Amino acid sequence: MAEPVPDGAAEQAAREQAVREQELTDRVAASFDGADDERLKTVMQSLTRHLHAFLREVRLTEDEWHQGIGFLTAAGHLTDDKRQELILLSDVLGASMQTIAINNEAHGGATEATVFGPFFVDDAPRVDNGGDIAGGATGQPCWVEGTVTDTAGDPVQGARIEVWEADEDGFYDVQYGDDRTAGRAHLFSDADGGYRFWGTTPTPYPIPHDGPVGALLAASGRSPVRAAHLHFMVTAPGLRTLVTHIFVRGDELLGSDSVFGVKDSLVKDFEELPAGTPTPDGRAIVGTWSRTRFDIVLAPAG
Ligand code: BEZ
Ligand code: FE
Repeated sequence: MAEPVPDGAAEQAAREQAVREQELTDRVAASFDGADDERLKTVMQSLTRHLHAFLREVRLTEDEWHQGIGFLTAAGHLTDDKRQELILLSDVLGASMQTIAINNEAHGGATEATVFGPFFVDDAPRVDNGGDIAGGATGQPCWVEGTVTDTAGDPVQGARIEVWEADEDGFYDVQYGDDRTAGRAHLFSDADGGYRFWGTTPTPYPIPHDGPVGALLAASGRSPVRAAHLHFMVTAPGLRTLVTHIFVRGDELLGSDSVFGVKDSLVKDFEELPAGTPTPDGRAIVGTWSRTRFDIVLAPAG
């Protein structure tokens, strides 16, 4: 049996241990002193201090260090040009949303931004105002309309509005592994800044959860499911590009979105209309349909 350590000696050992740990942190931080790029120096020295503080606070075991390295290695191996497990990790840790919050400062009533997600595709087809972006995607038809203005309230003509969404089974077109293009398109705001299109009423769906990030969520008792949403990316010259979504008021998942993307200002009424209700553009629809309004306000660029 080990000799009992006298109190004074235990304190002395703890002090020595703390000094050793702090010396290491300081040495690593100082190793970046010579970086040519001031910003690189700032970022790496702060990262060093926070990383070391985390390791010291949780008293990370060597087994846990190996598990962490294994986790990151598995995430890296799963990542290719179609699957980005490391961005997914950032998403479920709220790091993506925190970065978005930092870089999209509140500005005179400008619409809030939210997470981009992995399912945007360049070169989605163009539809005219009032057109249908569903392109065969299944789901309840949904009429979406609104305006694009700047923070002075002036209409923005010709804003490019990219929209994309999952179908009623919770899948984006690109997840089917065939060549279909559905549930996505772009259109342009008209002279009054107005826009309108048919899509489908958003439904909840899980983020990809068959990899290490899914295993982390399962082990943490967290659901991979996202609150139902419809993605937008809006660009116009001289104005800040807006990447956002709208969410469905009343969706019970609003409080537990797996990537922390929900903002109150982005929750919209989706009114469900009974079968037979005339549609805004005279389109004949068999069955129910829904409608919503999303007025978009773009902040100045820069
Ligand atoms: C999405 O909304 O498409 C999404 C966002 C973050 C992670 C996975 C999916
Ligand atoms: Fe999505």
